[in-house]
Amino acid sequence: MSEKATLYEDMVHQGRRLFGGERDPIANAANIAALIWQTLPDLNWAGFYFRRRSHLVLGPFQGKPACSRIPKGSGVCGTAAATGETVLVDDVHKFAGHIACDAASNSELVVPLKKGHFIVGVLDLDSPLLSRFDREDAAGLESLAKLWVASSDDLP
Ligand code: SME
Repeated sequence: MSEKATLYEDMVHQGRRLFGGERDPIANAANIAALIWQTLPDLNWAGFYFRRRSHLVLGPFQGKPACSRIPKGSGVCGTAAATGETVLVDDVHKFAGHIACDAASNSELVVPLKKGHFIVGVLDLDSPLLSRFDREDAAGLESLAKLWVASSDDLP
């Protein structure tokens, strides 16, 4: 297993320990955001958006204050929520419709939070580096997203 894959596997184990049986989705999202922020280098934002009718609404995060609401289908987050697919953007300035919450962001990785076929939100990472994220980061973040869904009741 690669170093990066091992790092994400360790984060999933740590996340499970951090939850300690807690089933509240907000508490668990806050701890996942903090764990990501403390563990992964070269991030300027890490956090959650939750689906609310026609918008994604800001959830627990680390980094600078961010946009509270993202309309359905807009930006990188809205695209991941609308398609149900992970979106990996090497250069956000080349992504049509990118929403610049923090001007320092240059690359971005967004993973949908799926409860069955229902998308309840997204987990979003931003980096000041170009091409900060690769397929291994995407797979690792998808594992953390799955852990959050599986460990939380009454998803927001
Ligand atoms: N850049 C995102 C908006 C959220 S912030 O990065 C925290 C987007 O285009 O959807």
